[in-house]
Amino acid sequence: MTRYEAIFRRKSVRKYRWEELDPHILETIEHFGGDEDCICPDICVKWKIFRDTDRNIKGLFQVKAPYYVVLYSEIKDDYLVNAGCLMEQLSLYLHTKGIGSCYQGGAALRHNEETDLTPVMIMAFGRPAEPLERNREDFRRMELKKLIRLHGTFGKVQRKLLEAARLAPSAMNLQPWRFVVTENRVHLFVSKPVRIGYQFQKNLKLFDAGIVLAHMMVTAEELWFDVEYQKLDRILEKDFQNYFYVGSLLILDESEKI
Ligand SMILES: Cc1cc2nc3c(=O)[nH]c(=O)nc-3n(C[C@H](O)[C@H](O)[C@H](O)COP(=O)(O)O)c2cc1C
Repeated sequence: MTRYEAIFRRKSVRKYRWEELDPHILETIEHFGGDEDCICPDICVKWKIFRDTDRNIKGLFQVKAPYYVVLYSEIKDDYLVNAGCLMEQLSLYLHTKGIGSCYQGGAALRHNEETDLTPVMIMAFGRPAEPLERNREDFRRMELKKLIRLHGTFGKVQRKLLEAARLAPSAMNLQPWRFVVTENRVHLFVSKPVRIGYQFQKNLKLFDAGIVLAHMMVTAEELWFDVEYQKLDRILEKDFQNYFYVGSLLILDESEKI
């Protein structure tokens, strides 16, 4: 199975078998992601794995799992979007190896020995003790037509990107994203947070935005066309109801081969 196929089958796994994973897999996780998997390759990131027995994870809505992986990042522009994009690709990769995962948005580290980088997100993972997959009809997601505003033609390439984007996981399944689609770009917006817990919510929404970008980038890679992440100043200034602009994917090769 490819990471692209995993997009249409994955689900969060919340029950795990207490089983050791192959050390090779653990090593791959700790070195996961090349420049091509990031939207901001200049942002320094690091992965660290904790075992349940380390007792280093605390917090709300925590899933009990044999392993947790923490993504640390430098704090720079777009670091949350970059982190979401990387971690979702890791989650899809794990799925292709028969390993389940679940984001832990309310969790934190008890002890943090890292000084230069900040922990951004924790993800539980391990061999599943419940189904790893589901059918496409069983995804609880909004219809595509509710998520997009179209300007121009909706080509096959855009359809493929957005179908994969629609199925992306998000904190509390809020699906905060909206897409403005033009001839060769998909502009990504997320809903503005409400006042209570503003910064925490905003951080999760930006992380979710990274997840949705990951689904589109994996799709582009699978289907052999190139996309480039851009932040367009002229869109930053646009007001789009209760949404704010995150960034845009430029479709470089609008191949109609699909
Ligand atoms: C940023 C983020 C944080 C999340 N935090 C939690 C969490 O703390 N606990 C939990 O059980 N699930 C958590 N989830 C999983 C979501 O609830 C789940 O992705 C969503 O309901 C969609 O379901 P699915 O992943 O099975 O498609 C989180 C997901 C994301 C993307």
